[in-house]
Amino acid sequence: DWTMAEFRKTKIEEIRAQVGDKRVICGLSGGVDSAVAALLIHEAIGDQLTCVFVDGGILRMGEAEQVVSLFRGHYNIPLVHVDASTLFLNGLAGVTDPEAKRKFIGKTFIDVFEDEAKKIGGAEFLAQGTLYPDVIESVSFTGGPSVTIKSHHNVGGLPERMNMKLVEPLRELFKDEVRVLGRELGLPEIFVGRHPFPGPGLAIRIPGEVTRERCDILRKADAIYLEEIRNAGLYDAIWQAFAVLLPVKTVGVMGDGRTYDSVCGLRAVTSTDGMTADIYPFDAAFLSRVATRIINEVKGINRVVYDYTSKPPGTIEWE
Ligand code: XMP
Repeated sequence: DWTMAEFRKTKIEEIRAQVGDKRVICGLSGGVDSAVAALLIHEAIGDQLTCVFVDGGILRMGEAEQVVSLFRGHYNIPLVHVDASTLFLNGLAGVTDPEAKRKFIGKTFIDVFEDEAKKIGGAEFLAQGTLYPDVIESVSFTGGPSVTIKSHHNVGGLPERMNMKLVEPLRELFKDEVRVLGRELGLPEIFVGRHPFPGPGLAIRIPGEVTRERCDILRKADAIYLEEIRNAGLYDAIWQAFAVLLPVKTVGVMGDGRTYDSVCGLRAVTSTDGMTADIYPFDAAFLSRVATRIINEVKGINRVVYDYTSKPPGTIEWE
């Protein structure tokens, strides 16, 4: 793609000019955006870049392994893998307000990045895969008054006192353009095509209090749902699909016993940029297959519902 080839060249020059001979830390989230940002910056400044992958206990099933093998294995780019799940989950204990979760997670990511920066003798810059829609949506909602809908932690949710300056080479791009750039940089198709995953991770897919146990339950349900979507050949037709775990218990019956367990919500939408979205119209047989598998295989869930809300008026994530 000619345009992206040009963009790549221009950005590489810009990154070199901005960074000089200083060190950069890049936080990888497991998503496409931060992976593409890291590859571009690595191409620009090589080993002045340190990639950090923080596992806060709020990742999807298998995510950490996939990111580690992509960077260390496929690209041979050094990667620091930090297990910070205790730090994140202890801090999330008792927190139920969606914005409070986002702010805490944003701040804690920065704390971890700053620690890692110290370990490598200091880094002046923090790189992130912020996209254009993240910038707009953190500032205002299209067509309406200037209201913050959500503090995307890679934009509005950063703490004021942050010591590092930001490098955000993808700030002008939409998701489809980032994917083209990713291909241009040799990112494997399986990674290029991945559904978006928000920085605050599973924490914003568990309304109410986030605990390690609830993250484990959600991870299992989400993995089953995505596996069925891939098996049905639908993954690439969907912008984003995920499960949410509701803070609601309902009564059920299994075998000859009563159950009293949580409700799981399923979400799937089509979109081109995440700013508006339509629900994905699965057929009933597909949804009942997924519901049956989740209820049979995931302890802690006894009811599954499908979310029929477009954006607007809903948002894609539940918090
Ligand atoms: P909403 O829920 O606002 O989401 O309709 C729009 C798109 O943005 C993703 N999203 C985030 N991505 N950090 C991110 O990097 C965040 O804090 C964040 N919040 C939402 C969401 O998954 C969807 O693709």
